[in-house]
Amino acid sequence: MEDVYEEIKNEAKKIESRLREWRRDFHRHPETAFKEERTSRKIHEFLEELGLPVKKMARTGLRAELEGKPGEKVVALRSDIDALPIQEEGDKEYISKNSGVAHVCGHDGHMAILMGAASVLAKKRDRFSGKVVFLFQPAEEIPPGGAKKMVEEGALDGVDAIFGLHLWQPLPTGSVGILKGPMMAQADNFDIKVKGKAGHGSTPHITVDPIFVASQMVVNLQSVVSRNTDPLKPLVVSFGTIKGGTVYNIIPQEVELTGTVRTFEPEVQQNAQKRIYEIAKGTSRAFGAFADFRYKKGYPPLVNHDEMVDLVLETVGKILGKDNIKDISPVMGGEDFTYYLQKIPGAFLFLGAGDGQEYSHHHPKFDIDERALCHGTALMTGLAYDFLKRPDRS
Ligand code: NI
Repeated sequence: MEDVYEEIKNEAKKIESRLREWRRDFHRHPETAFKEERTSRKIHEFLEELGLPVKKMARTGLRAELEGKPGEKVVALRSDIDALPIQEEGDKEYISKNSGVAHVCGHDGHMAILMGAASVLAKKRDRFSGKVVFLFQPAEEIPPGGAKKMVEEGALDGVDAIFGLHLWQPLPTGSVGILKGPMMAQADNFDIKVKGKAGHGSTPHITVDPIFVASQMVVNLQSVVSRNTDPLKPLVVSFGTIKGGTVYNIIPQEVELTGTVRTFEPEVQQNAQKRIYEIAKGTSRAFGAFADFRYKKGYPPLVNHDEMVDLVLETVGKILGKDNIKDISPVMGGEDFTYYLQKIPGAFLFLGAGDGQEYSHHHPKFDIDERALCHGTALMTGLAYDFLKRPDRS
């Protein structure tokens, strides 16, 4: 009998042009978080054509099941389906037709990859025992996101493990980056409004100058990283905007600051949030101003399960070759796949799609090397196959 991994690779190769067509169709018709109506309909039609029972969930999300030979185990594979509220730039033939919306993160490719895996696995359902669940999840880009809703509505019911991937521009096409433990950060945002008392620039003594107070605040908040956090634990506190005032000689009424906080550990996150609040309030009070403070939590850090990472590494070795496993560092971006990993074992990986691509994720000219679609389909298929054939461990 033909080696199953060769078979998987061949099957993925056979549908390479369809993968590209699917991806380009999604690319031309991007839709943002929870508005993925057309996207969801297209996937739904496809899954029904494959003969899979499909359940709608999380508004525009889908859950489909594929039965192999009789077996106990159930594995889930996930793709996100939303695009970004960005105007696409460039001259690609398949450029977005929806003004102000674009697939510039690669989720169009994730959908094509998972549809490809569904199609290969459906054709080869006599080659595995158990069940594969396909999750097409809305709204990854904007917290609170779609994953949490999917989980609440039963996406993981009966599922033993889950795998997901992100096409990754920084990595060469066909390579994989993955880490045991924390791989992606919690990405929080905050707003601070410093309220003073306006007046003439020539009479500062009868004003409360919010520009002065905000400046002190920016400096004081650097101490959250340098003085309040274990130096061996990662934390980023960065300001993104500072806005206030209109003209040379008027002390304004208020100044607005925004910033972001990136962490990997809950204690570091909680302490940073608390200290930012205390320092913002305390600095304002010291100079007679007031601070309105709003903190918006992002997704919790993405933490891979060690045993599932080992399984991914084995599968990658067989499908793409051991040389294609790349060393990576944790990424300070967020990902709501984390909500699945909080419930059941699983792993998330970066699949290189960067050959010939100079623009990073979320850039208006972002694109992928489409050869990665075929790799992704083979890999997802291989992961499902390898998990289901694993002997039970207790
Ligand atoms: Ni993304």
